[in-house]
Amino acid sequence: MWASAVLLVLLGSFGANALDNGLARTPPMGWLAWERFRCNVNCTADPKNCVSEKLFMEMADRLVEDGYKDAGYEYVNIDDCWMAKQRDANNKLYADPERFPSGIKGLADYIHSKGLKLGIYTAYGNFTCQGYPASGMHLELDAQTFAEWGVDMLKMDGCKQMDRHTMKKGYPQMTKYLNATGRPILFSCSWPDYERGAGIPINYTLVAENCNIWRNYVDIQDSWQSVLSIIDYYAKEQDTLVPVAGPGNFNDPDMLIIGDFSLSVEQAKAQMAMWAILAAPLLMSNDLRTITPEYRDILLNKDVIAISQDNAGIMGKRVLQNDTIEVWTKQLDISTSFGDYASVILNRGVSGMPSNVSIVVREFGVHDLMGFWDIYDVFQDKMHYYVNVDDFYSVMVNPSGVAVLRFYPTRLQFAKTEP
Ligand code: GLA
Repeated sequence: MWASAVLLVLLGSFGANALDNGLARTPPMGWLAWERFRCNVNCTADPKNCVSEKLFMEMADRLVEDGYKDAGYEYVNIDDCWMAKQRDANNKLYADPERFPSGIKGLADYIHSKGLKLGIYTAYGNFTCQGYPASGMHLELDAQTFAEWGVDMLKMDGCKQMDRHTMKKGYPQMTKYLNATGRPILFSCSWPDYERGAGIPINYTLVAENCNIWRNYVDIQDSWQSVLSIIDYYAKEQDTLVPVAGPGNFNDPDMLIIGDFSLSVEQAKAQMAMWAILAAPLLMSNDLRTITPEYRDILLNKDVIAISQDNAGIMGKRVLQNDTIEVWTKQLDISTSFGDYASVILNRGVSGMPSNVSIVVREFGVHDLMGFWDIYDVFQDKMHYYVNVDDFYSVMVNPSGVAVLRFYPTRLQFAKTEP
């Protein structure tokens, strides 16, 4: 009796403080300005690409008209440099009036009228990373302001908060203020990345109680090298990061750079597939107005998106590494599909020729009592039926490219055809 009373009190206090917005049951999908458009505020010189409401409205239009929204991309996210250089007379943040003449509320209305959601950016500390006013002393007021405007997602950065030790207090305070607004606002925290950078041990239990998604590692840049270095970080830390991911909580390896200047088509497929296996947010940072169809098709690939959006929300792991070949495997929702898996074979080789990769099926890390699998090669669009778990599965994988495989237990296929 006493024990249960104590437990209730503990649960009660946990419930009051922890983030309780019910969001991000699967990794969030959308578009985020930063990697591609940075802090370009010169709308006189570059009206098409400057950080302005026009840019976000145009991206929203593209999301709707070019099939992204139907594929699941729903957030349109503003990053740094949207604010006026000072707060207003009531200490409230407001958007630069020249670049955002409708204000954030007007932009939110537009985004919502398209059936999309709006994300915004602030920072813990007095300034954003680019030196604009941030939320340091005004967490509560800013949470209220964002809610009044109809914001649906908040990224809180923190590079100007020099004492990184304060973040484990400051971010949970913001969580409390976001809860108090009553508006479900998906909370994206940069806190663990800053603790990592400062050598402070990261309490991921606390992070997951307070944030829906969180950055773990350095900013992505427009290069394949950058993508690989991020993948390496997640491999190295997988034993810590896999257990904290799940519905409502995801590690964030940063934006998709598919369709930008650097990635080849093979590399773009690789980033898409790896982000899906990692159960990472799929936040594109690209120019949807000029993207070419081959990159768009990768971003819209339904089978890869299904792996990303699997409702178990499990983060995949690297299960094999041999020279330039890596295999990553993610278990998919066992409650609805009786043991599906997805794997990515990543070829980091640069030899110029596709590699013939042969792997004994059980080494993909797939577990099934019956021992036979139907294996679907997503990009080849080919099904290989009834493959024994002890047999080799062979596939050609292009250099700096991937094969994406989905494993269905063979017995299920038979079960489906039974009367
Ligand atoms: C930091 C973040 C980036 C971006 C910039 C904006 O570097 O990690 O994602 O938000 O700040 O200044």
